[in-house]
Amino acid sequence: MHFHIMTLFPEMVLGGLHTSIIGRAEEKGYISIEAVNIRDYTLDKHKKVDDYPYGGGAGMLMQVQPVYDCWKALNGRIARRRDDENNNGNIRVIYVTPQGEVFNQKKAVELSKEEDLIFLCGHYEGIDERVLEEIVTDYISIGDYVLTGGELPAMVMIDAIARLVPGVLNNGESAQTESHADGLLEYPQYSRPEVWHDKKVPDVLLSGHHANIEKWRLEQALDRTRTRRPDLYEAYITAHPPKPPQNKKKRN
Ligand code: ADE
Repeated sequence: MHFHIMTLFPEMVLGGLHTSIIGRAEEKGYISIEAVNIRDYTLDKHKKVDDYPYGGGAGMLMQVQPVYDCWKALNGRIARRRDDENNNGNIRVIYVTPQGEVFNQKKAVELSKEEDLIFLCGHYEGIDERVLEEIVTDYISIGDYVLTGGELPAMVMIDAIARLVPGVLNNGESAQTESHADGLLEYPQYSRPEVWHDKKVPDVLLSGHHANIEKWRLEQALDRTRTRRPDLYEAYITAHPPKPPQNKKKRN
């Protein structure tokens, strides 16, 4: 899977993503990450990429020309790599913005199936609406708060998406049992030592009885979700209503 980030701060994005698990996945070729500097595409002789908003108001806006030309060049390169000269915009372009739908694990799973994803990071007070209308396919936020730019949200999303790409995590199973994978928070986990600060690892985990361990973990996951995230718990219970107790057949 190939991630492409349109940004005014390529070094910020690459510095953050070239380390740890994501960096290793890139070295091994499971994913690639490139950052393209929007400023490289400005036709302004002073390399300016922003201007005042019509109608007044605080701050500056990123202008249409550098953003559009940057996307056009990038989209063309991707199309050529895919050997698809007629690719007119079927590569998804995600504008990271507090005005988008809120990102979650379901969205991460959906996006992890794409071959290429373009992230457009805004700065200043945003981007001229006209270029957004022409190139953006998805408007996505990472939460109901405002950051100074789109780079951190893009990095958050790329991390969450990349770890779902086959091969990126060593242990394929952990992406399936972790929090949010099935709509529940993950159960508590314990490692050695067996006793620490007078706290003992729950007996069932030492029992070797796999069915009981699974049952205990599900109970813990339900309990944790109910207390910490009642909104998720309600959604889970609605989708998985508890089975009514089985009536034992009366013998005649
Ligand atoms: N840019 C600024 N704030 C943001 C947010 N919460 N999500 C995505 N992009 C943003």
